[in-house]
Amino acid sequence: MNFELTEEQLMIRDSARDFAQAEIAPSSVERDIKSEFPADIIKKLGELGFMGMMVPPEYGGAGLDTISYVLAMIEVSKVDASVGVIMSVNNSLVCYGLEKYGTGYIKEKYLTPLAKGEKLGAFALSEPEAGSDATKQKTTADRQGDCYAINGIKNWITNGQSADYVLVMATTDKSKGHHGISTLIVEKGTPGFGYGKKEDKLGIRSSDTSSLTFTNCCVPVSNLVWEEGKGFNFAMNTLNGGRIGIAAQAVGIAEASLDAAIKYSKERKAFGQHISEFQAIQFKLADMAVKVDAAKLLTLKAAALKDAGKKHYKEAAMAKLFASKIAVECALEAVQIHGGYGYVREYLVERYLRDAKITEIYEGTNEIQRIVIARALMDEY
Ligand code: CAA
Repeated sequence: MNFELTEEQLMIRDSARDFAQAEIAPSSVERDIKSEFPADIIKKLGELGFMGMMVPPEYGGAGLDTISYVLAMIEVSKVDASVGVIMSVNNSLVCYGLEKYGTGYIKEKYLTPLAKGEKLGAFALSEPEAGSDATKQKTTADRQGDCYAINGIKNWITNGQSADYVLVMATTDKSKGHHGISTLIVEKGTPGFGYGKKEDKLGIRSSDTSSLTFTNCCVPVSNLVWEEGKGFNFAMNTLNGGRIGIAAQAVGIAEASLDAAIKYSKERKAFGQHISEFQAIQFKLADMAVKVDAAKLLTLKAAALKDAGKKHYKEAAMAKLFASKIAVECALEAVQIHGGYGYVREYLVERYLRDAKITEIYEGTNEIQRIVIARALMDEY
């Protein structure tokens, strides 16, 4: 076992860190308050190769490994988890899926601009009545000659109104249950494709979460990804990688919380000394540091398995379950250490707490991660 990062991985981590500090940090508070989508930042991230990190260069990507992606996701999310989720969805749910299952035409027309960051993608699985129970898709796609007519509503879609291309899971054959679900690419502006409400969220407020509506929205048959009936497997397989991205996002939030707590405890004085000198504070910081490291290692392990082409769905679920849980715990402790200052916008820790919570919910709630892990354990023994 080797815990050393390669020169290239270290370089990617450092350039993500530099970019995050220089370009993302200055506007993060204002964007959070105004719920403003970071369009310019996403454009620059694309130019630097961070929006299609694992896509081969022949399709416009940076051709890097999942470890590098995790390191970059941590650095970006440490500064702004909203930017982290936008980057994660484009990389892991959209680009990965199209690269693995798309035709040559799809890779040329859709993957390449997505990987270059010229276009932005979204992944539309959840529905008003199909969240955790994702097999119960009500959105339909009826074959009509050389196109599919899509009808239905999608909920909680990250990048919803900002995306140029949306991967839509829809039922093409109801009689086959989840084996009758297919994945179709819908372009922004296609007649019949509309938007519902943009959500006013607790955290990750600078990302765009919207519902999408489809009314006789016709897309060409050439926009079918993989095969008819493979849409649910497509969603599950891509979500395994997505969960690694969200675990990395959670690690970033937890690390930011720890850093802020250390810094503040060394500045703040009470009872005649810096609060960092009290054992009560030191124990909190020590526990936070252990949790951050453990979550990072679980996330890197899942990434290493994925890079090695090995089964990683259990490890991705474990990483997401643990990292999201400790992100909330570390953010809560950081707020506690800051006392009253932790409860107001003047310090960033209140945002870390608001941002952390979603990591326990999206890309499969932590209850769903436990189902995935438990089923894997049953299969193994
Ligand atoms: N990896 C690969 N395949 C998986 C899988 C995984 N982790 N989990 C399930 N599957 C496959 C099964 O092998 C099975 O395949 P076959 O039928 O072809 O053999 C199929 O999926 C159905 O699985 P089950 O029979 O176990 O179905 P179930 O209904 O009992 O459980 C579930 C399915 C695991 C609960 C699934 O519905 C699930 O993961 N739900 C959570 C959905 C989710 O994560 N949504 C996130 C939305 S996207 C998002 O949040 C993005 C964002 O905005 C940031």
